[in-house]
Amino acid sequence: MSTDAGAAGADSSIERELERMLEIEKFPPPAGFSASANWSDPAIYEEAATDPVGWWTERSKKLLDWDVEPTAGLNDSDPPFYKWFEDGRINASAQCLDRHVAAGRGERVAYHWRGEQGERRDITYADLYRDVQRLANALKGLGVRKGDVVGIYLPMIPEVAVSMLACARIGAVHNVVFGGFSAEAVRERMEFAEAKALITVDGARRKGKTAPIKEQVDEQMGGVGSLATIVVVRSTGIECPMTEGRDVFYDEVMEAADPECPAEPMEAEHPLFILYTSGSTAKPKGILHTTGGYLTGVTATHKYVFDLKPDEDIWWCAADVGWVTGHSYIVYGPLANGATSVMWEGAPDYPHQGIWWEIAQDYKATIIYAAPTAIRTFIKWGAEIPEKYDLSSLRLLGTVGEPINPKAWLWYHQVIGGGRCPIVDTWWQTETGAIMITPLPGITVTKPGSATTAFPGVSAEVVDEREGKPVEEGQGLLMLEQPWPSMLRTLYKEDDRFVETYFSRFGRDRYLVGDAARRDRDGYFWVIGRIDDVVNVSGHRLSTAEVESAIVAHPDVAEAAVIGQSDEDTGQAICAFVTLRGGNEPSEEVEEGIRDTVATRIGKFARPKRIVWADDLPKTRSGKIMRRLLRDIAEGRALGDVTTLRDPGVMQELEAKIAEEAADES
Ligand code: PRX
Repeated sequence: MSTDAGAAGADSSIERELERMLEIEKFPPPAGFSASANWSDPAIYEEAATDPVGWWTERSKKLLDWDVEPTAGLNDSDPPFYKWFEDGRINASAQCLDRHVAAGRGERVAYHWRGEQGERRDITYADLYRDVQRLANALKGLGVRKGDVVGIYLPMIPEVAVSMLACARIGAVHNVVFGGFSAEAVRERMEFAEAKALITVDGARRKGKTAPIKEQVDEQMGGVGSLATIVVVRSTGIECPMTEGRDVFYDEVMEAADPECPAEPMEAEHPLFILYTSGSTAKPKGILHTTGGYLTGVTATHKYVFDLKPDEDIWWCAADVGWVTGHSYIVYGPLANGATSVMWEGAPDYPHQGIWWEIAQDYKATIIYAAPTAIRTFIKWGAEIPEKYDLSSLRLLGTVGEPINPKAWLWYHQVIGGGRCPIVDTWWQTETGAIMITPLPGITVTKPGSATTAFPGVSAEVVDEREGKPVEEGQGLLMLEQPWPSMLRTLYKEDDRFVETYFSRFGRDRYLVGDAARRDRDGYFWVIGRIDDVVNVSGHRLSTAEVESAIVAHPDVAEAAVIGQSDEDTGQAICAFVTLRGGNEPSEEVEEGIRDTVATRIGKFARPKRIVWADDLPKTRSGKIMRRLLRDIAEGRALGDVTTLRDPGVMQELEAKIAEEAADES
C-alpha cells in the first residue's frame, strides 16, 4: 500500500497488535454449542461456493414466503447494476409481521422496550401488525405513494420500527436519520432525497434531559420544498410548535386511520430504503437497498451468524436504529425471523453504569450484539460492575463496526460471556446491507481480533493495490469479488458516483470495499481500517471533508484539515488542524465555538476531540492538503516524504506546535 492510503492513521498501533494477535490462541466452538447450532457442518461453505447464485436463491425461498416466487436468481447483464430475484414479489412488512400473526405467533413479544426512566413496554407482533397497518393507511391519506421518500428522525422508541414497516407496507422508501445528527444534517438528507414526508418526535430524552426536537426541525425544514407533511410522535409530551396544514400528530392520524391495510406485494427490486452514509467528499452518499435481496441477506445472516432460535432466544442488538446495524439487526432481520428483541432507549451509563447488565439480567438476554467501543468503555468502568448481575442467560456475543482489539475481545469473552459464549466479530458496511465476513459460531475456530472468513455465498479477497491480484499473506485492499443479494443497488440519484466509488478500480464486477485488510496463514481476514478519508469514531462513520466543511463555517476560521487519530476509547477520534482568518487569535472561546458549529451542522458525535492551531497547512504544489503528514505528526510518528510540499517549513512549525502542546499537557 502507498503511505498515502495510510488506513486513516490508525495503522501503526493496530499493526503492532496484529503482530501479537497472530500468536494468540484460538477458540474452537464449545462442543455443546456446535451440537445444537443451526449450522455445524463446514460443508456449507463448499456447497455455497459451488453455485452461489443457486445457493442464495434456495436460501431466499426457504427463509421468506414470497407472494410470487422468483424464477431467476441474479441478473448480471449490466454490472455493477445487479438485480436479484427480479421477477419475484414480496412485501417486507408482511414478512416481518403478517406471516407470524397468521401462524399464531401474534402474542409473541417483538420488542421488550425499556425507556430511560425505567418505563417498560412489551410490544407483540400483533401490536406491531395493528399499528403498522394504521400508520400505512394514515401515510396514504397524507398523500404518500409508492416510491415516495419518507424521512424518519426518531429516537429509540418502538414507533421507529412501526414507521419503517409502515413505509415498507405501501412501497414508500424510508430515509432514516440517526437521532444524534443535528436538524441541519436532517434537512440536508431530506433535500438530497426530496422527501415527501418526515416522521419525527416532540422531544427526545437523553440522560434525563429532553431535547426539543420538533422545534429544532422546524427551524430547518421550511426550505425543503418537497416536504408536504411532518408527522409528530408525542413521546415526551413537551410543548411543540405545529404548522397548520403541514404538521399532524402521530396518535391523531393513527386514531383516524382505517385499521386494515393489506400488504401490497412489491417487485423484488423495489427500493426499500435509503440510508445516508459518509464517503470521501463532504456530500453524504445515499445508499439504496431494495426489497427481496436485502431481506434475504439480513434474514439469513441473522439466523446463521447469531444461531438464532426464535422460540428460545432473547436477542439484543445494542445499536441505534438510525445506523445500518439497527436497520438490519433491530428491525428487518429479527422481525423477519420472528425473534424477540430488547430495545433500550438510553445511554450505557444512565441512570447508572450497570444498566445494560441490569436489562440483560431482567429479560434473560441470550445474545448481545454491540460495538467494540462500548466494550472498551465497560472495561474502563471496571469488571466489578457487570459482575454484580446474573448474565448466565447469555450464550453468544457479537461485535460490529470497527476492529476489536484482542484485549477487549478477551474481556468480553471472560467477563460478559463467562468464558462459555462464542464471539462473532462481524465485518460489513452500510453498503453491504448484511454481514459479510464473520465466524459461524457452531463451526469457526475464532481468533481474537479477526472477523475470520466470508459468510457462505460471499467471496472476499485481499488484493494488491496496483493490479488487484490476490495477496495471499500480507496487507492489501479488501474486495468483494462477486455480487450478493443484499448489496447496495446504487447511490440514490448518483449512478455515476456509485460506479466511480465502488466499481472503477479493478473492473465493474469487483466491489472495492474501502478498507485495508490482511489475511493470515489460515486465510482469516484481519480488517485494519479505511483507506479513504473516512474516520470511524466509536463505530460512527464520518467523512473528514464533511467535518472540515462544518469547521470552516465558523466565521473566524480560514481553513481546516481533519484527520482520524487513533484513540484508546473511541477507536479513532477527530483531530482538526485549523488556521484562523487574519486578526483572530486562538482562544478557548473560538475552540468551543468551532465544536458548537460542528455540533449544529452535523451532530455532537462529530465534534473534534483535539484542535491544533496552525499558521498554515501542508500542501502540495497543486494546493492539495497532505493529510498523511498531519496523521504522522498527530500520532507522533516520523514524518513521511515531504519533498512534494510547496513549503516544507510548514511542517517544522507544526512540529513545534505539537511539542508545545505536549509540554503544556505534562
Ligand atoms: O471500516 C469498516 C468498519 O466500518 C466500516 C463500515 O461502516 P458503516 O457503513 O457505518 O457500517 C458499520 C456497521 C456495519 C467498514 O468499512 N467495520 C465494520 N465492521 C467491522 C469494521 N472494521 C473492522 N471489524 C469489523 N467487524
